[in-house]
Amino acid sequence: MLAATQTYAPSEDFVRRAHVQGIEARRVLYEKAAEHPEEFWAEVAEREISWFQKWSHVFEWDPPFAKWFVGAKTNAAYNCLDRHLATHRKNKVAILWEGEPGDQRLLSYQELHRLVCRFANVLKGRGLKAGDKAIIYMPMVPELPVAMLACARIGVTHSVVFGGFSAEALKARIQDLGATVVITADGGWRRGKEIRLKDAADEALTECPTVRDVIVLQRTGSAVNMTPGRDHWWHELDQNASEDCPAEPLDSEHPLFVLYTSGTTGKPKGILHTTGGYLTMVTATMKWVFDLRDEDTYWCTADIGWVTGHSYIVYGPLSAGATTVMYEGAPDYPAFDRWWRIVEKYRVNIFYTSPTAIRALIRQGDQWPNAHDLSSLRLLGSVGEPINPAAWEWYYRVIGKERCPIVDTWWQTETGAILISPMPGAVPLKPGSATLPLPGVIPDIVDLTGKPVADGQEGFLVIRRPWPSMLRTIWGDPQRYKEQYWSRVPGVYFTGDAARRDADGYYWILGRVDDVMNVSGHRLSTMEVESALVRHPAVAEAAVVGRPDEITGQAVCAFVTLKKGDWNHRDLAEELRKWVAHEIGSFAKPAEIRFTDALPKTRSGKIMRRLLRELVTSQTVTGDTTTLEDMGVITRLAAQQEED
Ligand code: PRX
Repeated sequence: MLAATQTYAPSEDFVRRAHVQGIEARRVLYEKAAEHPEEFWAEVAEREISWFQKWSHVFEWDPPFAKWFVGAKTNAAYNCLDRHLATHRKNKVAILWEGEPGDQRLLSYQELHRLVCRFANVLKGRGLKAGDKAIIYMPMVPELPVAMLACARIGVTHSVVFGGFSAEALKARIQDLGATVVITADGGWRRGKEIRLKDAADEALTECPTVRDVIVLQRTGSAVNMTPGRDHWWHELDQNASEDCPAEPLDSEHPLFVLYTSGTTGKPKGILHTTGGYLTMVTATMKWVFDLRDEDTYWCTADIGWVTGHSYIVYGPLSAGATTVMYEGAPDYPAFDRWWRIVEKYRVNIFYTSPTAIRALIRQGDQWPNAHDLSSLRLLGSVGEPINPAAWEWYYRVIGKERCPIVDTWWQTETGAILISPMPGAVPLKPGSATLPLPGVIPDIVDLTGKPVADGQEGFLVIRRPWPSMLRTIWGDPQRYKEQYWSRVPGVYFTGDAARRDADGYYWILGRVDDVMNVSGHRLSTMEVESALVRHPAVAEAAVVGRPDEITGQAVCAFVTLKKGDWNHRDLAEELRKWVAHEIGSFAKPAEIRFTDALPKTRSGKIMRRLLRELVTSQTVTGDTTTLEDMGVITRLAAQQEED
């Protein structure tokens, strides 16, 4: 239930030291941005980012294509590294890293700069230049941000593929991007086991003719196959690399990265982000939302393979000159207090995680956090899915000891940066609400005709005005970009989320309205899992829906009809789960597989996922079934459920 009973105002002490102090200060900032957006963003960009050349104009809008800071030149790596070297941050820890086995590395800004320059020269040595594309498929080790920043430094557009994705998923991304280089590692550690990345890369690369070079970091030291001529060890190429590599002045609209995310079809979308606008917003939100101070130790627990890691482990924190913590492994390894050990050991001040993680930790009991000194924490954050008030209260009480505001940050891969979130020194909190939009962000809640709904009513969350860090297009598919985001409700950005606004103007995000599931804060399309399932020789048809799950928010539930044959359902269910892991990645494995002799369909043959969703959610189907071709199907599925 998303209903707040109490509001939580920040303490006087917190407000006094905050970047934005009090609700009135927020209002002034918000109104200024709303009334004079170009002036406002120009000021922010000037203050937060170093430019080699200023823009001729702030903004160009050829709906639905936007350009920000037109004509300006900058460089993301320069902003994340070089500009700090002339300040007190030169020897400040930039990346504070802990590996799962307990190994540790502290890289100062100066040292990180050196590593990035060397690796940028390695890439140049392989013939890479601005405009080329690189796939990065690595564990959570410092060389992952080094690789990203090295690409950014010379204008190579990177696409990081989460290490949990399978060879098949990796292959699709390499092909869609047209990458010429793949940067990977032998493997990484997770729950004490090696995730063998190079093996998966080898499997993917059998069908990727554009790839000329594979650069392999040695992380675990286990044996891997190296294809002569194509594969090179990172440490060998790096050995003689020069440390001199000036950051290239790139156009503000130069493509910084493409990040693939699930849409409503089987094919993932390559979300394109560019340089100047993206950097401006991720940097500004470090102050507005995380209230970052120079002395803070900041930790976002995401994986860099997702957008949260891009914006709030790498680009945002480093551009803002923070000390950003990176942890390689699982939160429960070797025990459920691993995160709290890290918080205690490094005196973490700002901690940013997902509701799924919080719920999983609640289940293990308070003794794990209670065994550690968490008094360094001053601000907590949440992202990826709606946080239920009970989990919020626990986070507030047991982790934050009722001292730390919680910023519930709403955003998406497409938005690049946080758009709706409390400013912690300004906005009283209501558990379960992402509260108010940030300056320059004009959301609304509308019906399908675009008409705003009344306060308290549920509707579609849209954003009325373009913002600097918005996606520029879907890689290679501008038509899909137009259709997906700018056509459902004409003239506004369609988020795909349902929401309502209360009488105080607070936003309550209710979840997706499309065929996108949110499993553990990871986006997954029902179609993607369905297409994976039907590629299996035993499967005739599949329909996938998300069902509510106490820990992961949603869980994947698959309805499967089989081709003729004598199948052992139990064995086959297990095999299909493995199959999905192979086709997409382990995180996409269905929690439940139900075999059925038919799927509910409309007369035109469309699978009625709505009914299946209702079935797995409420155990019965009461919705409109008049278009169902075979009413018996639902009855049988429901009856079968009762038998189970
Ligand atoms: O449904 C919303 C949910 O996650 C979706 C975006 O997923 P993704 O692009 O993978 O990015 C996740 C990390 C930014 C949104 O459409 N979502 C994200 N944050 C919240 C949220 N739902 C409710 N509250 C949030 N704070």
